[in-house]
Order: sequence, then structure tokens, then C-alpha cells
Amino acid sequence: MTDYSEIFAQRAHQYHAAMQRYPQARDGEFLALLEDLPAGARDLLDVPSGGGYLNAYLDATRALTACDFSTGFAGSSIPLGQPEALPFADAAFDAVLSLTGLHHVSLERQAAFFAECHRLLRPSGHLLIGEVLAGSPVAAFLNDFVHRHNSQGHVGVFFDVEFPPRLAAAGFEVTAMTVRHYPWCFEDEAAMVFYCRNMFGIDRGSDAEILAGLRDYLDYRIEGDGRIALPWQLVFFQAVKR
Ligand SMILES: C[S@@+](CC[C@H](N)C(=O)[O-])C[C@H]1O[C@@H](n2cnc3c(N)ncnc32)[C@H](O)[C@@H]1O
Repeated sequence: MTDYSEIFAQRAHQYHAAMQRYPQARDGEFLALLEDLPAGARDLLDVPSGGGYLNAYLDATRALTACDFSTGFAGSSIPLGQPEALPFADAAFDAVLSLTGLHHVSLERQAAFFAECHRLLRPSGHLLIGEVLAGSPVAAFLNDFVHRHNSQGHVGVFFDVEFPPRLAAAGFEVTAMTVRHYPWCFEDEAAMVFYCRNMFGIDRGSDAEILAGLRDYLDYRIEGDGRIALPWQLVFFQAVKR
């Protein structure tokens, strides 16, 4: 079985380079996750956080703690945690947010992660998850195109209506499951290729092949001003601690 712990340790720096060079490319995605965040939720945990990118979208009324499962992202300001052992006290947070970090975690470890989220949340605290929707164009792009053009492959287990019962089993009431569509935005095709190559570790394709893959799987648009809109979507789950 593919060891994503090792893979992320090796290529976190590339992912981070993509996020740092084009920090606004995924604005729509982070904002889509935050749509489900209650106004009163102050103490927030983002896990797995990657490089802590969510913080840029929060105002001073919120206090965000980041945590990642990988040594590639963890460091002085981002503690290392494991899905089944997060290094925080009971009832420390009003909300836990998790963006595209669970599709490489086994179902057994996900169950342990949800138990940890339950432990960390205050009564009626919120768990917000944004993940790849099974059967979507994004799912096909990742598990087909990226799988063939990344020498380590891409095997993600994606999310659908079978997921809410797994959250319920961990003591959550699932209050919403919403598919949101938004573009990833780039100044030109070269920026989009750089970003996707580094974010997804595409080491087996030329720039032209990556462009063709993005066109074929996701049908990106070139706007009148030359900017690129890459159609993206995730499914967002909102759950409350019972
Ligand atoms: C696609 S990135 C998402 C990061 C961040 N939430 C974002 O939206 O940019 C996936 C994250 O999950 C973590 N991760 C997922 N599965 C993992 C595994 N099996 N072992 C180690 N880390 C894992 C990685 O460290 C990485 O930070």
C-alpha cells in the first residue's frame, strides 16, 4: 500500500512552493470551507493544515491553531500530530476544520481522527470538512491523470453520501453536505502548470501534457483578460458534536 506519510514528507516543499508563489489561486476553496463556520466560533483548529494557509482568510476575532500529520509541513509554528493522536487538550476548540487532508488516510484512521476531533471540541462544537467528491471531474483528474503522471501515483479514497454515517458513528450530527463549485485562478497557463505540477508532484509530464490534462479533465477557461479559471469543486460536510 502507498505510504502517504513518506510521500508528503518528500514533497511538502513542492506543495508549499506552489502555495507561496500563487497564494490566491485557491481563494475560492478556503472561502468555501469557511462558509459553514458559525460566527461565534473563536478557537479553531485546522488539521491537516499543510503550511497553515487558512489563516490568511480569518480576521482577528478568530484564533487559529494549525497542525499537520506530516514532518514535511510540521515545524516550529505547526505541531506534528497523527490522526489518532492530536497534541491538544480536551474541549480546546469551538471548531475543527479539515481541508482535503483525509483522502489519503485509511478509513480506520479516519474513525480515530473523528474521535479525536470529538474530544477536542467543546459542547456543540463544529467539525467542517472539505473533500474530493467521489465521481467528480476533480476525482478523475487526481486518480487518473495525476496517477499516471506522478511517479508515486495518486490513490485517493474520495467522499460521497456514505460518509455522513461514519461521522455519526463518531458522535456527530451531520447538518449539511454541500457541493460547492469555484475556480482556481491563475494569471496565465504557465502559472497554472507550475502550480499543478508542484502541488500534485507531476514529474512525468511535459508542460504541454499537463495543459492537455487540465483541459481534458477540468475544461479550464481563458478569460477575456487572459487570466485562467480552472473549474474546481469539493464536497463540504458540516457536523456538530452531539
Ligand atoms: C492536499 S494537502 C492539504 C493541506 C491543506 N489543508 C490545504 O488545503 O492546502 C494534504 C495534507 O494532508 C496531510 N496528510 C494526508 N494524509 C497523510 C498521511 N497519510 N500521512 C501524512 N500526512 C498526510 C499532508 O501532510 C498534507 O498537509
